[in-house]
Amino acid sequence: MQRYPYVITISSEKGGVGKTTLATNLAIYLKAHAEDLPVTIFSLDNHFTIDKMFSIKGQKPSGDIADLLRGTPGADLVHTGQYGVGYIPSSLALDELRETTRGSMVLARLLALSGIPGILIIDTRPELNILTQNALYASDRVIIPVKDMPSLENCRNIFDLFDRRGLDRKNLTIIPCLVDARIKYQGPFKDHKSLLRAFAVNRGYRCLDGYISKSPKVESLNTNPEGKIYPILTHARGTDVYSQYARLSRTILEEYRDTEQPRAMLYHSWLLSEEERKRESFEARQSRLKRNCILCDGKAPRESSGGFSFYYEASDGGACGFLEDRCCSGFLLEYLYDARKKLDDDDPLLLMFRETSHESVFAIRPATDNGEAVVEVHRFTLDGNRVMKKVHPLREYDGNSFSRTRNGMYAFLSETLGELPGRMRDAFLLIHPANPQKPETILFEENYKRLIRTMQHVAHLL
Ligand SMILES: Nc1ncnc2c1ncn2[C@@H]1O[C@H](COP(=O)(O)OP(=O)(O)O)[C@@H](O)[C@H]1O
Ligand SMILES: [Mg+2]
Repeated sequence: MQRYPYVITISSEKGGVGKTTLATNLAIYLKAHAEDLPVTIFSLDNHFTIDKMFSIKGQKPSGDIADLLRGTPGADLVHTGQYGVGYIPSSLALDELRETTRGSMVLARLLALSGIPGILIIDTRPELNILTQNALYASDRVIIPVKDMPSLENCRNIFDLFDRRGLDRKNLTIIPCLVDARIKYQGPFKDHKSLLRAFAVNRGYRCLDGYISKSPKVESLNTNPEGKIYPILTHARGTDVYSQYARLSRTILEEYRDTEQPRAMLYHSWLLSEEERKRESFEARQSRLKRNCILCDGKAPRESSGGFSFYYEASDGGACGFLEDRCCSGFLLEYLYDARKKLDDDDPLLLMFRETSHESVFAIRPATDNGEAVVEVHRFTLDGNRVMKKVHPLREYDGNSFSRTRNGMYAFLSETLGELPGRMRDAFLLIHPANPQKPETILFEENYKRLIRTMQHVAHLL
């Protein structure tokens, strides 16, 4: 059975608000409260606090968080560490991955497929970079520690991000952190945490019930002769923070247990249905294809003709199919360069055109010029800049009444854009290069979307 993590991200654009302390200690507390619950943690920051805290002496870590982002299944990267917490080792390569990560749902997809069970905690860098955004969107719960007004002001960016993406704000929760109990105010908000909470609620931000006090004991846990970072659970007994963490982790556990379907599971079913949808649309596109090259009616033997290396589609979707390389190149050459007579296969003009035509997109459109039927033939670069346009008269037959042959262009257009006999639809044909080894790949979702964008661009230019 596939396993999915319940994902908690600790995030704030401010440094020093207690994110890493919260992430690491929450993991330890959760594990202490629920021994059988798998708890995993990793960091998207480029320090190694997590490794320092959780790695076991002599353990040789293999794989790290950069590998997860590059596609290694998450469950294969989780190392069982101290206090029974699983961790994915940190990596300095994240600096590079920040530059190359495209899209903000990459992590959501990877976690949906990760096979990591239980609760997964993500510590982040104090910036809303692309990796942080990925963590936010993959989360069931985001905890934002705030310690003062500036850090509270800063939360707005995370809330705005969620609003802009149409995501539910209720997954975002604020927790007052590093609260100094000695500070008291006159008036309705008597202390630091009540003031922060009131400002947060006033801005429409949800607050977690508890808060975390500032404690010199906790602050000292990462400064000792052994160079270790000690957990609050084991080394700060008797402090307020000790019981505040206990309360917080119980709240989180309840939320976890109340969540029947974590986002990773929902996202996975969405991915599956999306895959199914893509497969169905691909099959639908395939079923519309004309079987043969309509320029030669399938008479050209595929191997010597260079195979199907062009795809055509009518701008109104009324016809589509593949064209043999030689048929299509010869045909286009005739109309673009007036090469009327049939060229030999090794004719330099034909060879050159065959080579460069795969860097071009073509459009063919029936039109009228002073009441005369004409055909426009356009050539564009692959990114849609027009490089050529030719206009030719369009007649059904060539030759004279004694010896006449059906005009190739006319036949091609009536086959693809023909409506009633002698009439064409108000549309054009786009001819796009395809991979002769695997022509059908042009019908794959992403490629086809690009083709349709080119089609729209060309329609606009025409
Ligand atoms: N409850 C607390 N009381 C006192 N100091 C704390 C507390 N929580 C964290 N700290 C200290 O505050 C500093 C910043 O915490 P850290 O967790 O690294 O924040 P961030 O990850 O947001 O930069 C650290 O020195 C940490 O030891
Ligand atoms: Mg940190």
